[in-house]
Amino acid sequence: MVITGRLIGVGVGPGDPDLITMKAIKVLRNAPAVAYISANGRPSMARYIAAQYLGGSAKEIKITLPMHPSSEIADAAYGEGASRISADLEQGRDVAVLCEGDPLFYGSFGHLLDRLRGQYPVEIVPGVSSVMAAAAAAEQPLAYAAEAFSVLPATMSEEGLSTRLKASDAAVIMKLGRHLEKVRSVLEKQGLMERAIYVERVTGPEQKVMPLSELDHADTPYFSLILVTRQ
Ligand SMILES: C[S@@+](CC[C@H](N)C(=O)[O-])C[C@H]1O[C@@H](n2cnc3c(N)ncnc32)[C@H](O)[C@@H]1O
Repeated sequence: MVITGRLIGVGVGPGDPDLITMKAIKVLRNAPAVAYISANGRPSMARYIAAQYLGGSAKEIKITLPMHPSSEIADAAYGEGASRISADLEQGRDVAVLCEGDPLFYGSFGHLLDRLRGQYPVEIVPGVSSVMAAAAAAEQPLAYAAEAFSVLPATMSEEGLSTRLKASDAAVIMKLGRHLEKVRSVLEKQGLMERAIYVERVTGPEQKVMPLSELDHADTPYFSLILVTRQ
């Protein structure tokens, strides 16, 4: 029987290296190989967060993901990343995939898992998501009792955002980037600006938490979101 390595998705939290689980630390200290996504070749946030926990001799597999609207280009990059990980798994080496926040919440890990599941043993270590960290930083409960809390990507259409916000008691809007003005317009039309809190680079040294109404620029960094708090 051929013994392969395990594919391990490891959530490393939203930024503060103290917000990582004991289980993730154990995995990272012992992993013979670690993989991470580098968007457009830029330094990986997950690699940065995990740095102090990595064993010095771990092999590193950097998967460059071109930020391009074509899903075929992303598909090819994930395919190539999965086959490089697979080469190590075939050698019997565990590969820990470093994931910012939680691995299965809008994470690139899902794309690798889709390609490798069924072929190798899998383990997933959940992480603290940016949404939970943002609620803590803003000191705002997300939901009580039977309230409905929605998770919305800002990439949705204005109409889609509007419909879902109307049906929610509270929400988080993620992936803002160049969609900020659209989101602002939807929130204004629904009279929700007063309940909107902007959170940037949560738990990191450059964290910002402020009412959205006080944000004076038109686009935002990748690591930012808006909480639409309960009435
Ligand atoms: C691809 S999703 C990854 C989410 C991540 N897996 C998690 O559990 O938080 C990326 C989006 O999550 C949000 N995000 C992730 N980390 C963040 C941070 N440190 N501060 C603010 N927003 C963050 C942003 O909206 C960003 O565009």
